Amino acid sequence: MSKTVGILTAGGDSPGLNAAIRGVGKALRGRGARIIGFRDGFRGLVENRVMPLDGEALSGILTVGGTILGTSRDKPHKMNIDGETRDMTATIVENYQAHGLDALVCIGGGGTQKNALRLLDAGLNIITMPKTIDNDVAMTDTTFGFDTALGIATEAIDRLHSTAHSHHRVIVVEIMGHRAGWLALGSGIAGGADVILLPEIPYRIENLAEAILERMRQGKNFSIVAVAEGALPHEQAAELRAAEARKANSDSKKEKREAKALIAQLEKRYADHTVMLAHQIEEATGLESRVTILGHLQRGGTPSAADRLLGTRLGAACASLIMDGVSGVMVAARGDEAKPVPLRDVAGRKKLVPPDHAWVRAAREVGVCFGD
Ligand code: F6P
Repeated sequence: MSKTVGILTAGGDSPGLNAAIRGVGKALRGRGARIIGFRDGFRGLVENRVMPLDGEALSGILTVGGTILGTSRDKPHKMNIDGETRDMTATIVENYQAHGLDALVCIGGGGTQKNALRLLDAGLNIITMPKTIDNDVAMTDTTFGFDTALGIATEAIDRLHSTAHSHHRVIVVEIMGHRAGWLALGSGIAGGADVILLPEIPYRIENLAEAILERMRQGKNFSIVAVAEGALPHEQAAELRAAEARKANSDSKKEKREAKALIAQLEKRYADHTVMLAHQIEEATGLESRVTILGHLQRGGTPSAADRLLGTRLGAACASLIMDGVSGVMVAARGDEAKPVPLRDVAGRKKLVPPDHAWVRAAREVGVCFGD
């Protein structure tokens, strides 16, 4: 009997999403399945914002950035409905059944994996794919979007070099990645940054100022500092980690709520840390400093060949698993293969940069300062 499959994209958009929609969509259609796209993440399932994914809709999208389905950061269990936060899980279950779905594909990052698990626990047949420019989803080698963003951030660092050099300046470039340093690390190495600051390796301003001064003593009167948006100095990183540990280890709902509020407060307080860092560098080194925040440029535009390839092969593997009746898994990238891994083992875990990772070691070998 032919199957009916829903597809949605959730969380921040990412280059390669359309390749994945096309990959899973074409492969399913090739096997006789009917596909329904739900717009704007989990909200589409609540409000029945549907889009038929027929042959025409899946055509010509491989090279297009963003997601043809639209996306949102809405959570099934905490959705803003007419100004009120409501648990919409039951409505989603009802709509899943009303559309006669045999499976629902949720394409997203860490938050989406958690939300998808909630729907799995509510009895739906769920299968996910890992996307995010942050590359921080557990149990997969990589995520689509990362390679494209890596290319964009690297090119930005390349371009900043010539202007930093001409003006004898320090340019501090802020790179996305949320709490993970993969993007800053990868582009910092590929772009030849002199200092790379990561959330996983707290820094001391004196250490990186000394590295910049040492370059000056060698006659290099400019430096590039690649800073991950989540990077923090030691004291602030310790404060944040303590709040996170309180949230993770507490059994009381009230304490968890308080810890969550404290985390949000700290994140807000540290939001402009890159600008402060540039001031501190200027004071400590006497070199004029400038800040460039790459922001959403890193998520926009045409996906790289590697992300198109990854989205297509994970999408095709996802279709095979659905046809075999598999659910409750994320389709992970493992070398050249795609491997189903239990969603329960993925959700709630983040893949961070191990401080002794091979990329970090290589960067240290070529003289990059991590400020630690
Ligand atoms: O998760 C992807 C990401 O781009 C992070 O790197 C960044 O912290 C966040 O999304 C930005 O989110 P928004 O687009 O909601 O501002």
